[in-house]
Amino acid sequence: MRILVLGSGGREHALVWKLRQSERVSKVYCAPGNGGIAEEAECLPVDLKSLESMVPLAERLKPDLTVVGPELPLTLGVVDEFTRRGMTVFGPTKAAAQLEWSKSFAKEFLQRYRIPTAAYAICDSIEEVRAALKRFHAPVVVKADGLAAGKGVVIAASKEEAASAAAEMFSGKMVGEAGARVVLEECLKGDELSFLVLSDGERVAPLVAAQDHKRVGDGDTGPNTGGMGAYSTADIIDAQMRDWLVNHIARPVVAGMKAEGAEYKGVLYCGLMMTAKGPMVLEFNCRFGDPETQPILMRMESDLVDALEASISGRMDEVELKWSEDAAVCVVMASGGYPGTFEAGKWITGLDEAAKVDGVKVFHAGTTKRDGSFYTSGGRVLGVTARAGSLESAVERAYEACGKIEFDGVHYRKDIAGRAVKG
Ligand code: AMP
Ligand code: GLY
Repeated sequence: MRILVLGSGGREHALVWKLRQSERVSKVYCAPGNGGIAEEAECLPVDLKSLESMVPLAERLKPDLTVVGPELPLTLGVVDEFTRRGMTVFGPTKAAAQLEWSKSFAKEFLQRYRIPTAAYAICDSIEEVRAALKRFHAPVVVKADGLAAGKGVVIAASKEEAASAAAEMFSGKMVGEAGARVVLEECLKGDELSFLVLSDGERVAPLVAAQDHKRVGDGDTGPNTGGMGAYSTADIIDAQMRDWLVNHIARPVVAGMKAEGAEYKGVLYCGLMMTAKGPMVLEFNCRFGDPETQPILMRMESDLVDALEASISGRMDEVELKWSEDAAVCVVMASGGYPGTFEAGKWITGLDEAAKVDGVKVFHAGTTKRDGSFYTSGGRVLGVTARAGSLESAVERAYEACGKIEFDGVHYRKDIAGRAVKG
């Protein structure tokens, strides 16, 4: 069969890499893709912000299956539109994706179904923010309601700082339309966990859990990013915790969405804080995580195509996902200045040497290829991912490979999985 992957990041490179391992797959297209993906799939230009660009491309290619990587096409209704035209596509509808594109919807939904989450207030004006802040203790988390590509969350140390962050969101200067409504949240403490499940609208199949590292600097310092690295191990959570998360979070969410007429098919990404009082939901994403997908798929032994098809056709009970006991670690190599402004077009060297390190796969995120060489083209450039029998050796392999790669301004965290490794 022929598969089209929509997207251009490290997550999409990992999806392409894993889909190609299926014996059922004869050809993979990726639109728009990137320099590294082009080595493994036929890349085609597309505008992911426009259904008018995505629909004709798919109608021309006639793939047997389309896999949507990022949230934007999902929130535009790419799944609704492709399905209406008789095409098979993996992911939630626009209505189901509301769990990601409206944080206020997600919070009210969680409350309706008594799923654990931080106390919150939804505010439409700075006056409402000031009134609601009386009920909070600092620090307070201030979130733009809409999609903001990771830039819509401020952890304010004081109530004054919270009010000014909210004012900036309302002004439209910070995150545009996404900040027309603001959600205040109690600040939770604990370890974060990315818990992803595949859903067929009714049943769910959990993927192995992973941990992302969102801050730019070692020791979780500096501003938030899209994710600077992630790891997954067999014991990141135990079977009892996994079942608890399925029964108390993932299943109730999927059942609630169905009851409300917005059946949720696709990946449901539950961003959790493991607090002293138990797991609590920080956010939902309606797609695979980036960079979590890179280590998760490195550990997946089942056929990804079978799993995605089961989600689309309501047969999730027929697939049992199989996973390696190995650990996997992804270290993101980023452009100088990221997550702020950065320069693109830097020559990347050492990719071949890095790929020779045992157990390593270098996934490309922001790269282009010109005259046989790779150049940087985005903030997150590469996801150097390693698999090994222990987390310690996976970490060692990933950093050995990172050490061979160079480009002007490169930076990456040196402590991915560090807390887990130290135990
Ligand atoms: P979100 O996009 O809602 O996941 O927020 C991005 C990041 O902000 C999360 O991954 C957390 O690191 C942090 N965060 C969000 N909500 C909270 C909260 N209620 N308490 C503490 N940290 C939070
Ligand atoms: N790594 C966080 C995300 O995919 O949203």
